[in-house]
Amino acid sequence: MQICRTVDEMRAATRAVKNASPEGAKRLGFVPTMGALHDGHMSLVAQAQENADAVAVSIFVNPTQFNQPADLDSYPRDDARDLAMLEAAGVDLVFLPDVETIYPPGHETIVETTRLANILHGAVRPGHFRGVTSVVTRLFNIVQPDVAVFGEKDYQQLQVIKRMVADLHMPVEILAGPTCREADGLAMSSRNQRLSAEDRAAAVVLSQTLNAAAVLVKSGTSVEDLRDMIANSIDAEPRASLQGLDTVTPETLENLHGALTQSVAVMLSVQFSDVLLIDQKVLTP
Ligand code: PAF
Repeated sequence: MQICRTVDEMRAATRAVKNASPEGAKRLGFVPTMGALHDGHMSLVAQAQENADAVAVSIFVNPTQFNQPADLDSYPRDDARDLAMLEAAGVDLVFLPDVETIYPPGHETIVETTRLANILHGAVRPGHFRGVTSVVTRLFNIVQPDVAVFGEKDYQQLQVIKRMVADLHMPVEILAGPTCREADGLAMSSRNQRLSAEDRAAAVVLSQTLNAAAVLVKSGTSVEDLRDMIANSIDAEPRASLQGLDTVTPETLENLHGALTQSVAVMLSVQFSDVLLIDQKVLTP
């Protein structure tokens, strides 16, 4: 596994990997991460390996997507552990840049999806998705992958990235990685490490609520009744505080109303002490 820290190193490495085969160019897969890797990331890596001849992973805690400086400072970092996991998984290339490499002195270029970035989670975290698209564009330009994998758990992020790639004609195929869950159903996330034992036990309410919502949608319901059921289910857990509930069209993320006759993406964000967890499911009547 080759570890690259500069743009020139990474470009040379991806060129070498892509042209390594005498039979023709190899297809390069890419998984961008902010480190603190867990099984959820590793399933994205496995998906990239299934869909490409070689795989690159980036580890970069992107400052421009954090709203609170304290969140950036407290973001878990353990490069040695992350690198050992990637090596064991058979990853070919790792890009581990510092902030000045990604954002050179004097940088001023941003990339933004104007509507999708500023609704739902984007409305409560101003600038967050602009930070994501600005860094992913830079990473795509450096790594030049043929295919990249993003987790479905960050559902709005996935839609924002797909929109950006389509709008800017980026030559990258975007694949959605299904959410990986702990045995009790909790969606895997780097943030889970920060939950107290009591909050960790209570956090199962997110997936339980989404499962109950799936049953309700199958049996026929209105969006309003679905929202009431979800809010009541989260409220019944005393350690949980519902921060966001979106019931929207898949991909375009427009609010739905009335009798539910089409698929609905349910996006939940729930606070446990100082940790905000998210989860989502697309439900079909
Ligand atoms: O999903 C993440 O970990 C980040 O938002 C990403 C895509 C690596 C960009 O920093």
